[in-house]
Amino acid sequence: MSHLRAVINLDVAGPTVSRHLYGHFAEHLGRCIYGGIWVGEGSGIPNVRGIRTDIVEALRGIATPNLRWPGGCFADEYHWHDGVGPRESRPSMVNTHWGNVVENNHFGTHEFMDLCAQLGTEPYISGNVGSGTVREMAEWVEYLTRSGKAPMSKLRRENGRPDPWRVKFWGIGNETWGCGGNMRGDYFADLARQYSTYCRNHDGNVLYKIASGARSDDYSWTQSLMQTMGDYGCGCNPKHYFDAVSFHYYTGLTNRKHGSATDFTTDEYLESLANAWRVETMIERHSNVMDVYDPDGRIGLVLDEWGTWWAVEPGTNPRFLYQQNALRDALIAGLHFDAFHRNAQRLIMANIAQTVNVLQAMLLTFDDVLVKTPTYHVFEMNKGHHDAARLDVHLLDATPTEQYNDRTVPLVTTTATAKEDHALISLTNLDAEADHTITYNLRGGDPSGVSARILHADSLQSHNTPERPDAVAPTTFDGANLSQNTLTVTIPAHSFVTVRLATGRSNPSESEEQQ
Ligand code: AHR
Repeated sequence: MSHLRAVINLDVAGPTVSRHLYGHFAEHLGRCIYGGIWVGEGSGIPNVRGIRTDIVEALRGIATPNLRWPGGCFADEYHWHDGVGPRESRPSMVNTHWGNVVENNHFGTHEFMDLCAQLGTEPYISGNVGSGTVREMAEWVEYLTRSGKAPMSKLRRENGRPDPWRVKFWGIGNETWGCGGNMRGDYFADLARQYSTYCRNHDGNVLYKIASGARSDDYSWTQSLMQTMGDYGCGCNPKHYFDAVSFHYYTGLTNRKHGSATDFTTDEYLESLANAWRVETMIERHSNVMDVYDPDGRIGLVLDEWGTWWAVEPGTNPRFLYQQNALRDALIAGLHFDAFHRNAQRLIMANIAQTVNVLQAMLLTFDDVLVKTPTYHVFEMNKGHHDAARLDVHLLDATPTEQYNDRTVPLVTTTATAKEDHALISLTNLDAEADHTITYNLRGGDPSGVSARILHADSLQSHNTPERPDAVAPTTFDGANLSQNTLTVTIPAHSFVTVRLATGRSNPSESEEQQ
């Protein structure tokens, strides 16, 4: 057990922690859309226009801020024209990336936009660069966002939607270094400028264009994009072809990449933590590259795929990427969110992969039964950070660590934000064995009350099933004590805790949205 001291200045607001750091991702992959979100109108499972009701309710419970769709690798095979019009006459296609299954296109643009409306979430659409055309992407934008007599607006009306939708987030390609076309960075940078040119803002709908970015730590990819992304020549009216660049990073095991989600050793646990922590270094280094070309921070960094990637559950299709989700996954999510908060000045969006039944999912379906995963609960417990002002946590003592080969793995992480009349502190104790205590000196405020919740279970391998849906679920926590301006929290081994402090004042916040 260690005892750490920390200082938080309640009256010094940092950058806004965008709610979009808590974004999601739903691909046509395995049972994410079909058999997950989409059951069809004729299903015996309760649904609204084919979209499963319990999933909508659960995702509303975590205030899902945005949803990325239709991929992933699938996006670069997807031709949106095939997914509109009467369902029975939509053509089929083969989903070659994910199991060679036949996709009937029953879940298309209208169904996705309906899902977003039911969730109260912002759509983030990933356009096809790999096997699509500039015209196809331009027409999709027109179909979605333009009113009046344009040909695509007319087609949309014929398909039952008179008014255009509002779509802000627009992805130009996905993993164009790999499944999205196996391109080289400089080539894609030019191609992205070309696609971006024809993705127009129609009728006051302003697109926020996100260029497909690097694989993990390929900083040269980010450099290729940043070098070519804007014309700064005139100095008076800088123009950017994109508003953001993305990158993807998944946590697995180093050599055996996909170990079991629920059957792992303490050593493998440490290895997964060491790999998960790499995300913070990557965010910082991609940001450093961006700083060179964009010192004013106008271009956002987007981590639009992140999460754990384990072996599929035994007996399931290896290309469906269906994995269980244990307490370990929740702690890794807690670690990621702290890294996101600390880098909120540049990182404006992140999307966990994926929403239902795929990779580090929020929700698992078992026929008509829905199970919330431990990761879901971290999203729910951290909801108060959405659009709050970051409060820097200054640690006065060294964080406890453990050594994994040549890597030093921090075992405790904590961040804080302030909003309205309260502050929210998150703490993750990654230590498999030991409890740790943190004493926060709360300066610049007069905290008047405290309440806390904990996500904990007997073992790191604990997970939720239809038989034990709440094996890992948040409970009230009495280990946080406030005495005047001193908050002391003893956080048990392998736990995630949130502490809500009543600050009795309207907190300072950078009220402007970051994008
Ligand atoms: O999320 C699963 C896949 O991982 C996505 O389709 C792809 O973009 C990434 O490689």
